[in-house]
Amino acid sequence: MIAQATGSLRFTIDLPSRHEPRRYKARPLTESDEGAADDLMRHAPGVHRHKPPAESPEAATARIGVFDEMRVLRAFIDLRAGAPTADSCFVELMVVDPRYRRAGLGTHLFNALAAEMKAAGARRIALEVDDDNEGAARFWARLGFSEGARRGDQRTFQRSLG
Ligand SMILES: CC(C)(COP(=O)(O)OP(=O)(O)OC[C@H]1O[C@@H](n2cnc3c(N)ncnc32)[C@H](O)[C@@H]1OP(=O)(O)O)[C@@H](O)C(=O)NCCC(=O)NCCS
Repeated sequence: MIAQATGSLRFTIDLPSRHEPRRYKARPLTESDEGAADDLMRHAPGVHRHKPPAESPEAATARIGVFDEMRVLRAFIDLRAGAPTADSCFVELMVVDPRYRRAGLGTHLFNALAAEMKAAGARRIALEVDDDNEGAARFWARLGFSEGARRGDQRTFQRSLG
């Protein structure tokens, strides 16, 4: 149910004026966007997909991308809805083009998706961060995530959507 909610999700991101370009469009990624997502991954060496520790039988991945005015993919997020529990979501992967970081794109993308998840009934969002990825840990902390117990060599973070 939570994953279905993102099927038609479309929104515009307007960054503050000191950033160029300012306007981006977000929509679910399709099979034809996979090459562009792979390209983005090539610009983010060391970044990889995290799997949730558990998931419900209905779990499904929602993949939302952000495109610039030239319709080039500049960011995406893969969110596993229904994991690790039926009423929660797990961020498997999130990447912003290195040239477009620290402009607010990641924050806008995540906040829009979190609002959609909350409206669809999700109660919390969880994720894991590699030990050597201090930038990502700071990003999630800034978004209100709290750090929990470690899982293997991963730092775990979660946030309530209540
Ligand atoms: C983590 C990531 C998604 C953040 O995206 P972004 O669009 O650059 O983030 P924002 O511009 O919205 O950042 C918001 C705030 O988070 C914090 N933040 C973001 N990146 C940070 C970094 N590298 N170091 C320290 N703080 C950081 C800052 O407080 C920032 O606000 P500020 O720029 O006004 O100081 C992006 O850096 C990225 O794609 N990294 C590589 C992939 C990755 O590590 N993904 C996460 C896997 S768990």
